[in-house]
Amino acid sequence: MFMWRVLSGAIAVAECLRAHGMQAIQICQICKNGNESIVHVLVECDMAKQVWQRAKIPLPQHGVAKTTADYMKYFLGLMGKATIPGKYKQAITWLLWGIWKQRNAKMYAGNGGDADIVIAQALEEAEEWKRVNSLEKVTEVQRVSGFGLENKWRRPPAGVLKCNINSSWVNSSRMCGGSWIVRDHRGEVKFHARDAFLPAQNRIVAELRCVLWVMQSLLDLRILDVEIWSESGAALEALNNLRDWSRFRSYLDRFYKLKLHFHQLKLTQSSSKTNVVAWKIVSSITMEGRLHSYLATGGPTWLSSIIDQESRG
Ligand SMILES: *[C@@H]1O[C@H](CO)[C@@H](O)[C@H](O)[C@H]1NC(C)=O
Ligand SMILES: *[C@@H]1O[C@H](CO)[C@@H](O)[C@H](O)[C@H]1NC(C)=O
Ligand SMILES: *[C@@H]1O[C@H](CO)[C@@H](O)[C@H](O)[C@H]1NC(C)=O
Repeated sequence: MFMWRVLSGAIAVAECLRAHGMQAIQICQICKNGNESIVHVLVECDMAKQVWQRAKIPLPQHGVAKTTADYMKYFLGLMGKATIPGKYKQAITWLLWGIWKQRNAKMYAGNGGDADIVIAQALEEAEEWKRVNSLEKVTEVQRVSGFGLENKWRRPPAGVLKCNINSSWVNSSRMCGGSWIVRDHRGEVKFHARDAFLPAQNRIVAELRCVLWVMQSLLDLRILDVEIWSESGAALEALNNLRDWSRFRSYLDRFYKLKLHFHQLKLTQSSSKTNVVAWKIVSSITMEGRLHSYLATGGPTWLSSIIDQESRG
């Protein structure tokens, strides 16, 4: 429904501009046949008609719908109709959006206007949207805003491992580092690892890369039921938020692909207090310039007192 709101919003704006005479009424640039109104662009124009016909989506009987709002209501209603093939039905919003974009492309860039392209893109976008949204729901990404973060490290439930991660980032030209440490329901360390990554443009990207590296490592070790705890609210936000998703698209794509292999994967925001071990492991990279990476069973002995203390939590 998000897309629907965007579309209605864009159309409302166009309609409003027109009502106030700010956009001169002109001949439709796509079909050059009829005055360009919103209804014209979306349903009456030759290209729009072709799109609806090829996508096997019926238009209302002549005279039933008159205004843009009538048409919007009609299309919204179609999305719940069983008689329309699923792949086109789920793409209705994208089709409307695609037609609208073609009109803009024609108007401002002088190209566009191909019904087949509109349909192909709409199907693809609807598929992608569905994929990301459905995966979104099974991925439990917990975001807590600053307050309410746990202030004591807690053991995970039996059968699930808890993985604390941290990445360190100094600036866009320095190598960054990542670390993770996996503990069980008794607070015992199973593995811990450290690695150095190529420079990242910012802290969020560093943490996203770290998340992917951690997921890959866990999969390699066949650790499939796991909680990942990261301090980076921004990285969790990026993994959870579609508004900004295009900026991190390549990371999100890889995240969702890796995610499919886990039985249970939960990402939760950790406080810095409960993430000390991961932080200490990684800070040796950026602070002491130790770039060699490793994976080890058990915990680092130099941190055993903190680990022992936390295991009682
Ligand atoms: C377009 O608008 C003009 C001016 O309002 C009107 O005279 C003309 O008949 C309209 N053309 C069509 C095809 O509706
Ligand atoms: C990044 O940090 C290093 C050392 O902290 C410094 O030498 C380098 O000039 C910094 N680079 C930029 C682009 O700020
Ligand atoms: C890693 O841990 C340190 C210390 O708690 C914290 O300042 C830093 O923000 C963490 N890194 C990320 C990417 O959250």
